[in-house]
Amino acid sequence: MSTPVLTFFNNKGGVGKTSLIYHLAWMFAMLRKRVVIIDLDPQANLTAAFLDENKIEAIWGQENNGSTIYQCIKPLMGVGDIAEPVLQNIATDLYLLPGDVNLSGFEDALSAEWPNSMGDKNLYRPLRILTAFWQVMQMAANKVQADIVLVDIGPNLGAINRSVLIATDYVAIPLGADLFSLQGLKNLGPTLRSWKNLWKKRLDNWADSSEKKSFQDFHLPDGNMQAIGYLCQQHSVRLDRPVQAYDKWVQRIPAVYRESVLDEPAVSDMRQEDDPYCLATIKHYRSLIPMAQEHRKPIFNLTSADGAIGSHSGAVQDAKKDFRQLAIKIAKQIGIDI
Ligand SMILES: Nc1ncnc2c1ncn2[C@@H]1O[C@H](COP(=O)(O)OP(=O)(O)OP(=O)(O)O)[C@@H](O)[C@H]1O
Ligand SMILES: [Mg+2]
Repeated sequence: MSTPVLTFFNNKGGVGKTSLIYHLAWMFAMLRKRVVIIDLDPQANLTAAFLDENKIEAIWGQENNGSTIYQCIKPLMGVGDIAEPVLQNIATDLYLLPGDVNLSGFEDALSAEWPNSMGDKNLYRPLRILTAFWQVMQMAANKVQADIVLVDIGPNLGAINRSVLIATDYVAIPLGADLFSLQGLKNLGPTLRSWKNLWKKRLDNWADSSEKKSFQDFHLPDGNMQAIGYLCQQHSVRLDRPVQAYDKWVQRIPAVYRESVLDEPAVSDMRQEDDPYCLATIKHYRSLIPMAQEHRKPIFNLTSADGAIGSHSGAVQDAKKDFRQLAIKIAKQIGIDI
């Protein structure tokens, strides 16, 4: 049995993926679900949210010990195999495998092995490389008996993200209410379907190969990439735009999500606030964001000692309620009991 992997993805950047995962990871841990977070964005913003610079510098300074996602897969670029991941214990039930700016160096190897995995022989090594992220995720989850793996990636459709999506059971899509997010959503659906189909072909190729019986302990991910819904981010609305502009874009999301991501016909007159595929509307948290970053904690754990006084304390409680609801909704979608 493998641990479910949930990836937050949109190839439009800056829509709040990293902030969302950070908060959701804390909330799952507070609900006593054990979380492993894997930072697969070479920009490593999620790692920087959890750890201070001195700690990150110390981790990046250690070579060949599985202390970052890149250190885990690096031996594959030579003749070696995956290194055992070393996790950072952030809090009770919250573990992080740090990101690494060097991860971009793996992009070429992944591109090169993609066609090789459809050959008629020597398939093990290409498949080991293409599924390295999934193997590391499962090793990490096994180590701490995690309930869920949460994954952050950068905003692009490159070979690293293709390998992450192959490793993904469930996809959640954060969106801003603007033309660019909607355009990103239109590209995303067909891309996910194409990656899923191409991965199924590789699974079939491996199943039919004579090599498979020599590697009984070698497991591969299903590559389901099941979309569980979208999240609307209010903060990504430009403050100089009128409210009507927000409504104009946000009300187009239900139709585009169905047509592009689910490959279903749009439902007429479906409004975003009534759409069952809308997992949440994430509020604009304004000055609570820098306050939370400074204290290196989620918004909903800010206290008066951190500066969350007056109207801030109400917003902190609202955020706790909202993220609790979101975590419970997501858990239900992916079959985790809370
Ligand atoms: N709910 C929110 N309210 C206010 N600001 C937010 C909120 N969520 C995120 N932000 C801010 O928006 C910016 C982008 O957020 P974030 O880095 O999480 O996006 P991202 O989608 O991960 O970006 P990238 O595509 O670069 O990885 C950050 O400055 C973050 O602090
Ligand atoms: Mg990010």
